[in-house]
Amino acid sequence: MGNSVIISKSQFKESADTVTFDFFLKDEKKQGFLLWYDGKFKAYINQCRHLDVCLDWQPNNFFDEEKKFIICSTHGALYSPNTGECISGPCKGKSLIELDVLERNEDIMILF
Ligand code: FES
Repeated sequence: MGNSVIISKSQFKESADTVTFDFFLKDEKKQGFLLWYDGKFKAYINQCRHLDVCLDWQPNNFFDEEKKFIICSTHGALYSPNTGECISGPCKGKSLIELDVLERNEDIMILF
């Protein structure tokens, strides 16, 4: 079995909310974020598919103003929160790297 991070659902205040976490993938430190959107939890690696940079313009601030899309702070690529697919911008058609999540009572377990 691989590694995991556990985040309590109680950390999410509203829909389109996110919580970041750090983890190691093949000895490389990465940051991920768990988001709650449309009643579902999804986890992605915090890395744009255009360049190897973090997405958030301020720590843990991933959404556009209308809270409809994840937005890359560098060149404004828009990603679907539900699928991770870039729907506009220089990496259109590529997808964020998704991590598996398991819901367990009041917690979300993220697997990597
Ligand atoms: S680095 Fe994200 S859109 Fe260019």
